[in-house]
Order: sequence, then C-alpha cells, then structure tokens
Amino acid sequence: MTNQDGVWWQTSTGYQIYPRSFCDSNGDGIGDIPGIVSKLDHLRDLGIGFIWLSPVYRSPMADNGYDISDYRDIAPEFGTLGDFDRLVAEAKARGIGIVMDLVVNHSSSDHAWFRAARTSRNVPEHDFYVWRDPAPDGGPPSAHQASFGGSAWNYVPEIGQYYLGHFSAAQPDLNWQNPALRAEIYDMMNWWLDRGIAGFRMDVISLIGKDVDAGIYEEGPYLHGFLQEMHRETLAGRDIVTIGESWSVSRETALLYCGRERAELDMVFQFNHVTAFEDEVFGKFRPKPFDLVRLKTVLFDWQETLAEDGWNSLFLSNHDLPRQVSKYGDDGPHRVASAKMLATVMHLMKGTPFVYQGEEIGMTNAAFTRIDQFRDIETLGKYADQIAAGVTPEDFIRGANENGRDNARTPMQWTDADQAGFTTGAPWIEVNPNHVTINVATDRADPNGIFAHYRRLTDLRRNLPVIVSGRLRPLAKDDSTVFAYLRELGDTRMIVIANFTAAPVDFSVPVDIRGDGSCLIASHAPRSSLGETLALAPFESVAIQLTTAGKP
Ligand code: GLC
Ligand code: CA
Repeated sequence: MTNQDGVWWQTSTGYQIYPRSFCDSNGDGIGDIPGIVSKLDHLRDLGIGFIWLSPVYRSPMADNGYDISDYRDIAPEFGTLGDFDRLVAEAKARGIGIVMDLVVNHSSSDHAWFRAARTSRNVPEHDFYVWRDPAPDGGPPSAHQASFGGSAWNYVPEIGQYYLGHFSAAQPDLNWQNPALRAEIYDMMNWWLDRGIAGFRMDVISLIGKDVDAGIYEEGPYLHGFLQEMHRETLAGRDIVTIGESWSVSRETALLYCGRERAELDMVFQFNHVTAFEDEVFGKFRPKPFDLVRLKTVLFDWQETLAEDGWNSLFLSNHDLPRQVSKYGDDGPHRVASAKMLATVMHLMKGTPFVYQGEEIGMTNAAFTRIDQFRDIETLGKYADQIAAGVTPEDFIRGANENGRDNARTPMQWTDADQAGFTTGAPWIEVNPNHVTINVATDRADPNGIFAHYRRLTDLRRNLPVIVSGRLRPLAKDDSTVFAYLRELGDTRMIVIANFTAAPVDFSVPVDIRGDGSCLIASHAPRSSLGETLALAPFESVAIQLTTAGKP
C-alpha cells in the first residue's frame, strides 16, 4: 500500500493461473503445483510480476476450489504445503510474487466448521454460518435464488433451520457478523502472508457485508467496516497487493474500496464492461450483441473515475469469462491480429493488466455440442433451471459456448502433441482440438507471435512511466470501429489506435495528435507518424510515442 504511483504492482503485469487446467505433472489429468513450477520459466519470459493463483486449498471441488474445506492446507490433487512453499520460492527467484485467492464469503459444506455447525444450534461453529427459521409454511425463509441455480436456502432437518448458500448448497455463506469468525479469517490470512505470499485476490468480497433480513447481499451496510478491520488486522504495513472481486461495484462505489486513504484494498476487479452485454433475464447464457461504443464508454469512464485516486485493474478474461479473442476479437482468420489488438488496448491504459492463462497465445473458446462435456457447476445448475423454464438444450449450449465458464477452463495448450502436452493421462475436461495449431511451442517459435507481442507489452510497462502514470484522454469516443486514446505524462505523449473490426478502416486522426514519433508496438508494419488519416488493416493496432506534435 502506498500513496504513490510506481509501486511494484503498478509497474507489473499479473497472470492468472487456474491450477486444475494449467499443467499436470503426474498424469492424473488434473493440473497441479509441481506442474506450475515446471512452467515458471515461461512466465518469467513473458515478463509478468505476479501470479494470481486460483484456489489451491483443500476442497471437495464442487466449484473447483471455490469451496474450501481447509484454509490451511493444499488440495492433495494439487500437491502439498511443501510444494506450495517451493512454488513461492521458485517464483520469487524469477521476480514473480504469488497472490492467493481468498475465498471467505463462504466455505465448503465439508469444512469442519460447517460439519459441526449443522449438528446443533449449541456449538460455537453454528453461528459461523447464516441460519434462518423456515417460513410459516415450512418453506425457505425467502425467495433468494442461488447463483448456480435453485433456492439459496437449504434445509437441515436435524436442527430445523435453513442455511444460506448464496452460490450453491455446497458453499454455505460464512456469518461475518460473528467476531469470532472474523478473527479466524484474519488469523488464517496472516498465516499465509507470513509464508511469503505477495497478496490476495478476494473472491466476491462485496458480499461479506450483507444484511440478509433486509434482502441486501451485494455491498451491504457492513462491508467497508469489515474491510477496514481486515486491513488493520492483516494487511497493514505489508508490501503486498490486494484486489477485490465485485460484480456489483460501480463507478459510484469504486473509491470506497480502493481510495488510497481508506485503508481497504488496492484495486477491484469490476465487471461493468461484462454485464453490459448480458441479458436482463437470462443473464450470461443469452448474451447481447457486442457494441464497441458501449465497451469504450464503460472502460473510459472507469479510467476517469480512478484517474486521481484508487487504481484500475485491466482485464477482459478470467476463469469465469469466455476467451477474449472469441468474445471481442476474431477466433478465425484474424485470430492473431485481434489477440494482439485486444492486448494492446487493455495493457496500455492506466491500471494493472491481468493476463489469463492461454491468453498470451490467443487460446479460443471451446465448442462443445453435448451437455455432458461441460464440467462447470454454474453451467450445469443453470442448465437445469433454464430447461425447466422452457429453453431448448440447443439454445442453452449455444449460450454456454459463447459465455460459459468452461470456455476458459479447457487445458492450457502447451504443444501440438496428444492432450496438448497438458497431461499424459485423461484430462478432467476435454482439450480444445485446435491445440494442433494453437499452442505455446508454436506461438513462441514465431517472432511475430502473440506471445512476443505480450512480452513487448510487459516490457514497455516496466520501462515507460507514461504507461503506469500518464493521464488517459479518450479519442474518437463515438467511433464504432476504432478504440483510441492518448496517454500524457509531462512532455511525453503516447497514442494508442486500434481497429476493433474485421474490415479495413480509415481513421481520421485528430489534429492535435498528428506528428512524428517512434513506434512502441505494432501488430502490423511499424508506424511512426500520424497524418490526416490512418488506414488501418483489419484488427490492426499500434502505439506511437510522439516526439513532435503537428500543431494545426
Ligand atoms: C467468484 C469466482 C467464481 C466462483 C464464485 C464463488 O466469482 O471467480 O469462480 O464460482 O466466486 O466462489
Ligand atoms: Ca496432476
């Protein structure tokens, strides 16, 4: 935590690993920590500063680790605490920090706390969870629906009460109102921080301040009090980074989390640019058509909101989202150019960029045809709900292939070999057949590959202060084909221009950015001057540092 621009997590690029799908070292079909260690050189070469590691704690894996049954142990299929310590040390030796996923809105229903809690109202653990009496008719206390389908309330006959599982019955919500529970969480956080980790990504953190009886779940009245207490008890005085995930945070509330004087978090993962394209009723499984002006409006507005205080996270992909090249670019003939274009526009804004595993080689969505190929608890839960509501399986699968979470979870494509070099066994989820052409070995061998482009971006960020600290001025805001902006720091001016479409575009260059300069990065032939118009090839992107400005 600091009040100054330029700290390590601002000049760094983050990289998210979804361990189950990254690299399997022992042939059981499941990625693991030794597998990650074996690939650290790939990440060092990419130039990242830290890894956000999705959960590796002990878990029955109902939600692939977002259901933790022991916060102080590693899932046996992922390895041991010894393996984890080795990962921290080996990563550190390559200048890479390990940011853990902190999942404390809920635990697993298999956690010892919950196993005790459900036996009696009189054990201390009972109050670690959220219980309510049945409604007068014996039914659930409210109509609140679980994110992954069905009622959020689950009846336990032994004690005659319902518990809250905001996500699923396997993920009972922890009762943050209980100070003893909070003390347990803070102790656990300190235990990991003392092991040398570089920070926490905090899963659905905006839910912890909920007021269940008032029906308020997101950004409830207790949220910021708890985050400030957490900061005092665990984070204060440590050189770490914290990123809070919130599906509800808006420009109006962002600075409550990450305002520098607030002593809460360093930044948030916000999703306004994602939810803008979801159906109001059917949500992500019935996506709305893409609209570049809308996307730019959201991202530029966030740049403005956090221009002076707070800090942005920059991402289009993670383990819950479709592959960005499929969603926002072109995963056919223009795959390479569009992957580079998306990276350029995201990485050169103000904030910390996050790369999701496989993004650096332009991995694409899966194309499943049968529901039994899917593994995700959300997809399967929503399938049941929506089929019951009359959606056809074909329509549902079409939506899941566009926006479902398994798109991001097919195994990392290392080579063109059988199972993409991910495993020597049978993978827990099918490998994308396009691994024969899209894989790390092939892309890295190409000096004009996507990996080389990302590597240049991480390098620019480490070396050019205008990327870290410059002000961002949007250009051509209403243009529905081009994403362009200016970054300024002192006398340094950097222009980013990108064609977001599969057609050539003639971009009218605003008068005050015409001039000569040097090309910082380009997807096509380098360009070093800007005249009246710029003829852009499909998905072409370029960043130029202007040395002269051709004043009108
Ligand atoms: C977050 C995670 C997601 C998980 C959910 C419940 O949104 O990113 O993967 O299913 O929280 O923990
Ligand atoms: Ca394994």
